[in-house]
Amino acid sequence: MTPRLNSADWRAAARSALPRFVFDYVDGAADDGLCKRRNRDDLDRVTLTPRVLRDVSRPETGIKVFGRRWAQPFGVAPMGLNGLSWPGGDEALARAAAAHGVPFVLSTASNVRLEDLRARAAPGIHWMQLYVMHRGLAEGLVERAARAGYEALVLTVDVPVGGNRELDVRNGFRVPFRPTARFLCDVMRHPRWAWRMARAGRLDFANLRVEDAPGADSASLQAALLTRAMDRSLTWESLAWLRRLWKGPLLLKGVLHPDDARRALDHGADGLIVSNHGGRQSDAAPSAIAALPGVVQAVDGGAPVFMDGGIRRGDDAIRALALGARAVFLGRPLLYGLASAGAAGVDAVLSQFKADLQRGMALLGLENLDDVPGSGLVVGGPDCSPSRPSRISSHQGDIR
Ligand SMILES: Cc1cc2nc3c(=O)[nH]c(=O)nc-3n(C[C@H](O)[C@H](O)[C@H](O)COP(=O)(O)O)c2cc1C
Repeated sequence: MTPRLNSADWRAAARSALPRFVFDYVDGAADDGLCKRRNRDDLDRVTLTPRVLRDVSRPETGIKVFGRRWAQPFGVAPMGLNGLSWPGGDEALARAAAAHGVPFVLSTASNVRLEDLRARAAPGIHWMQLYVMHRGLAEGLVERAARAGYEALVLTVDVPVGGNRELDVRNGFRVPFRPTARFLCDVMRHPRWAWRMARAGRLDFANLRVEDAPGADSASLQAALLTRAMDRSLTWESLAWLRRLWKGPLLLKGVLHPDDARRALDHGADGLIVSNHGGRQSDAAPSAIAALPGVVQAVDGGAPVFMDGGIRRGDDAIRALALGARAVFLGRPLLYGLASAGAAGVDAVLSQFKADLQRGMALLGLENLDDVPGSGLVVGGPDCSPSRPSRISSHQGDIR
């Protein structure tokens, strides 16, 4: 077996382990995949100039967020249908996150009930991600998440409608689901995956069973989530409704515009996740790393700003921190690990990120992560943020 040294190796392993329709669901993006590519291209353009002859014998990677210590400045992004990559995928991700001292965000579209995840994977830092399909259902989810002990609520705001994922359509991965001959061949070519799935039994959106929405038809609720049929009438005013229901930290995920960032804080958000959903929603959106400095500047220290999208190595996390992120969230690389080797794969990917981060810090002369923004690291060439070059230079003292 070729050694799996980085996210690209894990991606190749996942590609051969998974049927095509599952790999494309995990790896795919919206429209032409431009936004997904932009996430990487713009990260690649952020350079960090090392400082030398500093004591880096014990790099401190820990940070504090909402009063809790994270051992690393990264967490597990919310992802739906993790049980398709590996049975019990949500639990495997949550346990690995806990073992590494980093947070896990459970998706509304998980394949485990939110209460069961807490029972099976606690203790750990668990956040709950919310999709609002309709208000009554969302209220139920929020109340259940509070009762189950989730520490923060992440409202995803970049899915008013589903992104155009043409690979899923081509693969027949849609509602109503009708297996084609091509689909069956695809599954048969991956007998290990098929055997694991057959043993695990039926997969569903476990948070949305019929008992969770009395009077509703469970099958149509499940279909609505798969097609991302959301409540399109959600507005800034709706945040007051959520704020009343949820007393803990409330974060908005999918904010890219500085004005939206300011508005979010005015409407009671406690944190923001700068994200374009890994390029799975608007293909015209800027990369997350390019949008980050504008949001950080708009928030002006009023709340922690997180970022996700395209993070593939430890250095990427440092790049984001250098541009003002408190921490980053990891998406696809963890699913590549999960799909290739189950819980052991997730653990291996997180271990690589940690080792990468420690090496990167030492090479850059960073003793701890609080040093990053003010350390004199030099960010980028003249245009490391294509949309806002001047903001990058204006926002952080000695980052030029
Ligand atoms: C397979 C998959 C499913 C996802 N499901 C959700 C979801 O249910 N809720 C959500 O807010 N974001 C979801 N996302 C977006 C991730 O939370 C995150 O924003 C994105 O994956 C980060 O980009 P990266 O994969 O390049 O790291 C999903 C992403 C993937 C790859």
